[in-house]
Amino acid sequence: MLMMPGGMERHFDGSEEDKPASYVSTNTKMVVPPTKSASGTPQKPALKFLIYGRTGWIGGLLGKLCEKQGISYEYGKGRLEDRSSLVADIQNIKPTHIFNAAGVTGRPNVDWCETHKTETIRTNVAGTLTLADVSREHGLLMINYATGCIFEYDEAHPLGSGIGFKEEDTPNFAGSFYSKTKAMVEELLKEYDNVCTLRVRMPISSDLSNPRNFITKISRYNKVVNIPNSMTILDELLPISIEMAKRNLSGIWNFTNPGAVSHNEILEMYRDYIDPNFKWVNFTLEEQAKVIVAARSNNEMDASKLKKEFPELLSIKESLIKNVFEPNKKTGLKN
Ligand SMILES: NC(=O)c1ccc[n+]([C@@H]2O[C@H](COP(=O)([O-])OP(=O)(O)OC[C@H]3O[C@@H](n4cnc5c(N)ncnc54)[C@H](OP(=O)(O)O)[C@@H]3O)[C@@H](O)[C@H]2O)c1
Repeated sequence: MLMMPGGMERHFDGSEEDKPASYVSTNTKMVVPPTKSASGTPQKPALKFLIYGRTGWIGGLLGKLCEKQGISYEYGKGRLEDRSSLVADIQNIKPTHIFNAAGVTGRPNVDWCETHKTETIRTNVAGTLTLADVSREHGLLMINYATGCIFEYDEAHPLGSGIGFKEEDTPNFAGSFYSKTKAMVEELLKEYDNVCTLRVRMPISSDLSNPRNFITKISRYNKVVNIPNSMTILDELLPISIEMAKRNLSGIWNFTNPGAVSHNEILEMYRDYIDPNFKWVNFTLEEQAKVIVAARSNNEMDASKLKKEFPELLSIKESLIKNVFEPNKKTGLKN
């Protein structure tokens, strides 16, 4: 049984004619054997996820989630830009779905990409496209953790208006090399019907000791800007991405909690829930520009497509309280 993106399933008996044309290739190996129940009716194959990004933040969390949910998974050993290593992973692991949480994000931050352009292209452009192509060749859906940092507030989407960028909007932010290349790749991935592009933004998790966590970052800065943005609460949204794989959803998705929250609103919650003595200092975008190399995107995304598919999705402020601040308050974790 071939799992098709878009929630469709195709059944075939192995003959070439039964394979959907878009997935036929000379070296396609259908890796999901059909199984039968005791009654003889075909059953869905057991899930087996192949995840890229073992040492990364999102990739690490995905593995833990699979363990919690009893989903069989393995991390890919291949490098994204090395096609044969990806094919070997698929042949060894025989996955039902591929998750791409691999990419270069820059250390300490995306400014790194400004001075490492070919390395950024190798993984984020050549690598991501190669994995999408290999996945398609094997009839596999690829859940791709992409970015929403390809938009910035503009006249049609003014700050504070509540008018967010939609899935079909054309990226308007190329202020950093990282964002510029991510937008280029998103455009090309539109042609791959086996790809589910998840536009992640300013990810937050309940682990306030993680230096990658947006809350942890801004609570440690000497000075912080104060702009509302759409953000992704990983504790709530990563399980949703697993559910999206189960539903074989594809296409572009704004992968943020509905609404926007400002830096100061988050830091006020931090003060109220975590550290009553916490204080911070704001500065302007112009002042910020002097201490960073590349510009940063600020935007609100329209999460109504995701909300329609997952009506239980919480607004960003509700999710921050439920998934981040309340649990940390209860355990008394001080950052
Ligand atoms: N964190 C954010 O703020 C943020 C925001 C929006 C979107 N995203 C996107 O979400 C994805 C995951 O982010 P993250 O924060 O989890 O990243 P991360 O912590 O920096 O981890 C990146 C992972 O990618 C792997 N990797 C890098 N180059 C690779 C290559 N050529 N082949 C195979 N694996 C490679 C790394 O493995 P090695 O250590 O072995 O190289 C690492 O496991 C990225 O595409 C990122 O752009 C992140």
